[in-house]
Amino acid sequence: KVNLDYPTTAVSKAGDLKVGQPVSFTYPDASSPCTLVKTGRKTQGGIGPDGDIVAYSILCTHMGCPVNYSSEERTFKCPCHFSVFDSELNGQMVSGQATENLPRILLSYKDSDDSITAVGVEGLIYGRQANIL
Ligand code: FES
Repeated sequence: KVNLDYPTTAVSKAGDLKVGQPVSFTYPDASSPCTLVKTGRKTQGGIGPDGDIVAYSILCTHMGCPVNYSSEERTFKCPCHFSVFDSELNGQMVSGQATENLPRILLSYKDSDDSITAVGVEGLIYGRQANIL
């Protein structure tokens, strides 16, 4: 849920992104690693000129291991117990031990300067009682 307490954090310029090359950032604070992905095709919830830019917390919802983006499979994969999350379906769990989807980072795109900013989180970041500490 979008909450007014969320910070607005600059992440990237849309023009700097390449399909299949994820960009790491932290949000809503320095101890919450996230990844931004340009999927290369119009994606549910995607922003930017092509509607294909999405971002997620990379802390696996099972036990918090950092997941890795696979550009071939277009999924995030957890190395710990092999949960797989769909990068193009709101972080939906595809298989594995996790029971929750990967939290989605809500993004905003500004045409005038091509900027992408993080503005909120949908879902609870692993290990937290609330996303904003
Ligand atoms: Fe990711 Fe267990 S921590 S599947």
